[in-house]
Amino acid sequence: METQYTLVINDLKKRLDECDTEQDILKVKADFLGKNGLVTKQFEKLKDAVDKKLIGQQLNKLKNEAESLINVRKSNLIAASDTKKIDVSLPGRDVSEGSRHPISITINTITEIFRGYGFHKVSGKEIESEFYNFEALNIPKNHPARDMHDTFYIDADKLLRTHTSSVQIHSMKKYRAPLKIMTPGKVYRCDSDPTHSPMFHQLEGLYIDQNVSFCELKGILEKFVDDYFNEKLETRFRPSYFPFTEPSAELDIKFRGKWLEVLGCGMVHENVLKNVSIDTKEYSGFAFGLGIERLAMLKFDIKDLRSFYENDLNFLRQFRGIT
Ligand code: PHE
Repeated sequence: METQYTLVINDLKKRLDECDTEQDILKVKADFLGKNGLVTKQFEKLKDAVDKKLIGQQLNKLKNEAESLINVRKSNLIAASDTKKIDVSLPGRDVSEGSRHPISITINTITEIFRGYGFHKVSGKEIESEFYNFEALNIPKNHPARDMHDTFYIDADKLLRTHTSSVQIHSMKKYRAPLKIMTPGKVYRCDSDPTHSPMFHQLEGLYIDQNVSFCELKGILEKFVDDYFNEKLETRFRPSYFPFTEPSAELDIKFRGKWLEVLGCGMVHENVLKNVSIDTKEYSGFAFGLGIERLAMLKFDIKDLRSFYENDLNFLRQFRGIT
């Protein structure tokens, strides 16, 4: 019996080898597995067989093998005809290469610089409660400073954060002191004109330790300006006011002959440390918040703030290859 099957299989293989088209294969299939096919006919012999079970099993094996040989030949033939259609010598189709958004590039550059100064990156939430965005930062209800932030409220207590300073509170609560963190992200203010967008980006820095001084704050920020612009730019610290820092300052840089404000900073206010139960006798610290868009505009010579948000491919493609 076995040898008889081998003969059928060998015959099938030979016939399949001779096939040039799918049509030929269909013919072979009919000759072997069709109603009057060679394999099908073997099943008829089963009626008179003594050991029906064994022969039945062998016949099924034969049928399966024949089927799989036919299928393999068929798929090989299809694959071969496909390759014939493809001119492999043609150049590949252009896969259009994306680019990083200038805001992401700027965030990467800035966080990389501050990482070098020992700041750890943490992330924050864009939806905040009044406590984290205002109260804990020494901006109580009815404080005039709340006017500085025209806030998007979600409900009575939830709002879109108006600055990344809210992450100061989360981080101090979570990691306690000493602490050296930076947090980049989106912030929202109800403001929209050619130089203001209702959503923009900031990077907050916070350093809490023993004996942290304003001198260190100045040193680090001046070094940052050099590292970011890769050149020595004139800087000046202008006294300012933020409820969560005392003293407070704004840092201006002289860029192409013009003084430009790039960030707000100061020594963390005692009340802020007290709000998160950090001992003010042991610890002090500084904080700063810089505007990402402003720094990106200066570096890439972007004139209109709105270009960041318009998804204009001609604008975005200019940043190809920059990480
Ligand atoms: N949060 C301030 C702003 O949005 C910036 C700032 C951060 C100032 C930290 C001082 C310290 O304008």
